[in-house]
Amino acid sequence: MQRTTRNILFVSSEAVPFAKTGGLGDVCGALPKILKKLGHDVRLVLPRYWSMSHKAHDLEWEVSPMEVQMGNCILWCGVLKGWIEDVPVYFIEYEKFFGRAGLYDDGYHEFSDNAARFGFFSRACLQLCRSIDFKPDIIHAHDWQTALVAPYLKIWGSDREYFRNTASVFTIHNIGYQGKFPADVYDFLGLGLENFTESKFECHGRIHFMKGAVFYADAITTVSPTHAEEIMTGIGSNGVAQYIERRRKDVFGIINGADYDHWDPDNDPLISQQYSLVHFSGKAFCKETLQREFNLTVDPGIPLIALISRMSYQKGKHLLIPIIEDIVHHMRVQFVILGKGEKHMEDYFGGLPARFPGRIGAWIGYTERKAHVMQAGADFLLMPSLYEPCGLNQIYALRYGTIPIVRDTGGLRDTVIQYNEQDGSGTGFMFHNPTPSAVYNTVGWVVSTYYDRSPHIDAMRKQGMGESFSWVDSALRYEKVYTHALARRKVWA
Ligand code: ADP
Ligand code: GLC
Repeated sequence: MQRTTRNILFVSSEAVPFAKTGGLGDVCGALPKILKKLGHDVRLVLPRYWSMSHKAHDLEWEVSPMEVQMGNCILWCGVLKGWIEDVPVYFIEYEKFFGRAGLYDDGYHEFSDNAARFGFFSRACLQLCRSIDFKPDIIHAHDWQTALVAPYLKIWGSDREYFRNTASVFTIHNIGYQGKFPADVYDFLGLGLENFTESKFECHGRIHFMKGAVFYADAITTVSPTHAEEIMTGIGSNGVAQYIERRRKDVFGIINGADYDHWDPDNDPLISQQYSLVHFSGKAFCKETLQREFNLTVDPGIPLIALISRMSYQKGKHLLIPIIEDIVHHMRVQFVILGKGEKHMEDYFGGLPARFPGRIGAWIGYTERKAHVMQAGADFLLMPSLYEPCGLNQIYALRYGTIPIVRDTGGLRDTVIQYNEQDGSGTGFMFHNPTPSAVYNTVGWVVSTYYDRSPHIDAMRKQGMGESFSWVDSALRYEKVYTHALARRKVWA
C-alpha cells in the first residue's frame, strides 16, 4: 500500500542529546529520526536551555529576531538551528525564560513562571512555522509543557488560515504532571476568557494545561495500550479520566520503542565488555566491574539488583524504604541504586552504602554512563512503580539480559512476560499490590529462583534478550494516528 509522507513538527521540552530528565527525552530524540527514515519531513523544536552551548552543539542562528504575540504583549526571541542526525532541530532562544540552570526547577522548587515559560514556547513554535515557511500537516506535542499547542492551533484567530489543514496530536507521557497553575497567567497566555471553563482550561479556579490539550487535540496518545485504558478510568488518571474518556474514539496507546543504537550490549561503548545472546560471557565481567565501581563485594554468585530511576513516588522507591534493610539482613543479595529527586529519598538511599558496606551501593545523581554500566552488570532491575505509562528502563534491561522485577501496571504489563515457575518461561517477575510486603515477597521469590532454579534464570535472560521493541513498529502506528488526526481536523474546521 502506498504510504503518504507528511510534514511533521515535533514540539517537546526535551530530546536526547540536547536535554533530558527522563524517558520523554529519549523518546523525542529517537522517534523523529525514525519518522524521517520513513520518508516524512520531520522537524523538532526545543527551548534553548542555558546548558546548550552554541559551540558544543554546533548551533547556528536561523531567525533573529522573531516576534511572538502573547495574549497581552509581544515578546522578541531568537531561533537557533542544530541537528539530530538528519532531523533539523530548532531552538527557541529567550534568555529570560530559559537562560537558567534546570529545565523545570532549580533542584528544590519548580520555577514559579513555568506556565509563562512553556506557554510562550508553545506559541513560539507556531510562529516559527510561519517564519521559516514550514506548513506542517501534523504538530505532535508532548506532555503539559507543550500542551497549549493544540489549543492555540484552534483558538488563535490570526493563525487560523495558515494552519487550516494542520492537525495536532498530543502525547501524554506522564499524567502525574498536568501543568496546573494560578490563573493570573491566563491573560498572558491569551486563551480567551470564554474558554476558561470547566471542560477546557479551568480547574478549581486554576488553569490546567493538560485538560486544554485533551479538549482541543485532534488525537491523544499515551505510551502503552494498558496505560491508555488506565487514564480513562478513575484509578490511573490522576483526576482527568472523565475528560479523556469523552475523547475515547481519539485515544490511542502506542508502546515506546528502544533506541538500540544507544542501548545494546553488543555495541555499547560505555560498558566494560560487550556481549550478546550468542557471546554472553562478557556479562560476567560487566557484573564484576559494577561491583567494583560501587564498592560491593566482588562475587559472581550473589544476585545483584539495580534500581535506575528518578526518586519520585511514581517510581515506588518509597515502598522499598521500610523493607530494604530486612531484605539485606535475611537474603544473600546486593543492591545498586542510581537516581536523584525527592530529597528524603536521596538522603535515605544515599546513606545505605555506609551502613551496609559491600551489600548496597548508591550514586545520588544521574549519569548516562552509570545507567549503562548498571544495566550491563546487574542480574535484575527493580521497578516497583505506582504507575508507569511505558517505562524504558525495563525495555533496555531485557536487551542487557537483566531480568526486570516490575509491578503489574501500564507499560510494565505490556512489555514484561510473567515468569512461569513450571517451565521457566517468561521475561520477568511481576507483582500486583503497591505495598512494601509485595516488594519484599517478590524479591524473596527472585532470590530463591536465582539460587534454586538457575536454569530458569538463564532461560529468562535469553528470552528477554530475544525480544525487540522496535521504533519502526511504533512509528508505523503513529502514522495511522496522524491519518486519524487529519480526518478529525477536517470535521473540526
Ligand atoms: P521516566 O521517564 O518516567 O523517568 P523511563 O523508564 O521511561 O522513566 O525513562 C527513564 C530514562 O531516564 C532512562 O533513559 C534512564 O536511564 C533515565 N534516567 C533514570 N533516572 C534518571 C534521573 N534521575 N535523571 C535523568 N535521567 C534518568
Ligand atoms: C514518562 C513515563 C515513562 C515513559 C516516558 C517516555 O516520563 O513516566 O513511563 O516511558 O515518559 O514515554
